[in-house]
Amino acid sequence: MIYSKIIGTGSYLPAKVLTNYDLEKMVDTTHDWIFSRSGIVERHFAAENELTSDLALQASLKAIEAAGISADEIDLIIVATTSSDMSFPGTACILQDKLGIKNGAPAFDIQAVCGGFVYALNTADLYIRGGQAKTVLVVGAETLSRMLDWNDRTTCVLFGDGAGAVVVRASDTPGIVAAKLHADGRHRNMLTADPLISMDGQAVFKFAVKVLSDVVEELLEDEKMTGADINWLVPHQANIRIIEATAKKLGLKMDNVVLTVALHGNTSAASIPLALDTAVRDGRIQPGQNILIEAVGGGFTWGAVLIKW
Ligand code: UT7
Repeated sequence: MIYSKIIGTGSYLPAKVLTNYDLEKMVDTTHDWIFSRSGIVERHFAAENELTSDLALQASLKAIEAAGISADEIDLIIVATTSSDMSFPGTACILQDKLGIKNGAPAFDIQAVCGGFVYALNTADLYIRGGQAKTVLVVGAETLSRMLDWNDRTTCVLFGDGAGAVVVRASDTPGIVAAKLHADGRHRNMLTADPLISMDGQAVFKFAVKVLSDVVEELLEDEKMTGADINWLVPHQANIRIIEATAKKLGLKMDNVVLTVALHGNTSAASIPLALDTAVRDGRIQPGQNILIEAVGGGFTWGAVLIKW
């Protein structure tokens, strides 16, 4: 039996930091409003000449180094992004070139907005278990700062830029244990970018809490597990209140939740691999632990993946 295992993680945040106090000078808002509604304190914004593929490159180099492989061993590249460098080519192909990979490995983007990393990780797992790839680079990378409507104070304060990457490799023992993905296009107008981000915040909030609770329950039930079996919940970092609601539903203490929303804001497809890398590098995530990741995003798309680290 072939399984897939995450063997290295990496992440990258652009140097420029904007605190809520900085935003007070740009829009009619306050630190207290942003923090109390979302848990966000600050976020990173890419420099003018820094593209999504540049952030993806830095995160990938760290993940490749942590995995102890050479870039040439990668035989599939998947980039989850909703803020690609250009309409085409895909960011995965640009990243492949920037990494100097010339082995002809397939490379493509996944567009599932904030659900993108969960979709991408599930895709990598299926490629590996189907025998079509052995070493997959999975990246979530975003420059959402370029899509913000500075006339919409409810939305523009929530997002940030960043990238996270994982190397997933074929293994004899389970790493990625199970995944559940869903989408429902009837709700597509609740959160759109055409080209600037527009969101019905309250509707998204209610929807997110419901579907995230449902999908993690569905996944755990299938695996005959409960929240008590989960060592770390690594959720999409959109909003502390959505995260708290999901943790409560699972019966998980917030001590078992990896939180980066305060320092990163909502980085869409990048938020889970950024949070994963944070908790791997600071030693919270350890071999043998059960890690649950979950996300919901525009589309609407949502899903969860259970990982034995
Ligand atoms: O991946 C999914 C990504 N999306 C999300 O996670 C968003 C989910 N939604 C939310 O987290 C919340 O709905 C928001 C944080 C977006 C908004 O919080 P809310 O509690 O739903 O606020 P609201 O839109 O109902 O606005 C409440 C008040 C309004 O004032 P009045 O009408 O009550 O006087 C707004 O005008 O807050 C006002 N307001 C602001 N005040 C200061 C809206 N935006 C701001 C702001 N600063 N930036």
